Amino acid sequence: MTSKILASDTARFVPAFVRDPVHTAAVAPSSPALAAAMAASVPGTGEPTVVELGPGTGAITAAIQRRLGGRGTHLAIERNPQWAALVQERFPGVQVVLGDVADLLGILADHDVDPADAVVSGLTWAAYHGRFVAELTEVLAPTGVFSQFAYAWARRWAPPARAELAALRRHFSDVAISPTVWHNVPPAVVYNARGRAVGPCREALQRRATGLPVTFLGFVADRPTVARLPAPGPHETFGLAAIEALACGTPVVASARSAVAEIVGPGCGALAHDTEDGFVRATRTVLDVDRQVSRQAASARAELFPWSNAIDGMLAALGA
Ligand SMILES: C[S@@+](CC[C@H](N)C(=O)[O-])C[C@H]1O[C@@H](n2cnc3c(N)ncnc32)[C@H](O)[C@@H]1O
Repeated sequence: MTSKILASDTARFVPAFVRDPVHTAAVAPSSPALAAAMAASVPGTGEPTVVELGPGTGAITAAIQRRLGGRGTHLAIERNPQWAALVQERFPGVQVVLGDVADLLGILADHDVDPADAVVSGLTWAAYHGRFVAELTEVLAPTGVFSQFAYAWARRWAPPARAELAALRRHFSDVAISPTVWHNVPPAVVYNARGRAVGPCREALQRRATGLPVTFLGFVADRPTVARLPAPGPHETFGLAAIEALACGTPVVASARSAVAEIVGPGCGALAHDTEDGFVRATRTVLDVDRQVSRQAASARAELFPWSNAIDGMLAALGA
């Protein structure tokens, strides 16, 4: 966005703020620096689905469009009719919906929007309430990210801003806070929230596990982290993790000394000696198998281990 447009948009914000301070919530559009920091959560490859909340006059919309460079889909929801029309005129490639994010799920269903890879919010805390944050986790794809800015001065001191951050932390397993973007009026930070698999029992489970060598990871969204996690080792006795992976068509590499050795079959996994080198070699064996073939072999193998077999086996072992 050019500095001329930025200046004329600032002139639009002041009267809008005077008319509706709660929803406008700012006296100037986001700066290019803040807009770029917000748009950075949009995937840089593929055909992402992006949902933008409260585009205003389009400062963040412009940064998202630049990052997309013609890829994917971009839907923006704005409640101010003049600004919705302005953004639609400025960005014909964006699907602008005149509406209220209070009806987020309804709007996305009406427009047949895929699970979002990124939800980028230009709303300030005034638009927040618990239900809205909970809905975000339904709108996002499992690996999706929710980006929201917060004014740096308010983040630590203003109770609503603290409540907002607490709500994000309750509903997402990972909330990253950017360094302060000083080139914005006022300076702001960006929250990037990911990972929705924090179940309702997590807090209770964590309390019960206090003092035990247990780490709660929540939903792990990025592949390198998943790859670093240990495969089922010698202490895995039941094998559910392996059966679930096979049922999804994912081959399994496991310790040859573990009970999982009974579950892994030819073509759908490999057993490893308990050394780094052993696991590397076993993983290479699996990667050498054609992906389609190993996928089919994995799900066929999982079919051999239904719950009924587990229960029959357990009752037999108990002599029941
Ligand atoms: C702080 S301004 C941000 C505008 C723009 N994203 C930016 O960063 O310059 C907030 C915007 O959200 C819109 N908005 C506020 N509450 C909304 C709601 N419940 N539904 C849709 N839009 C809303 C306002 O009309 C305004 O355009």
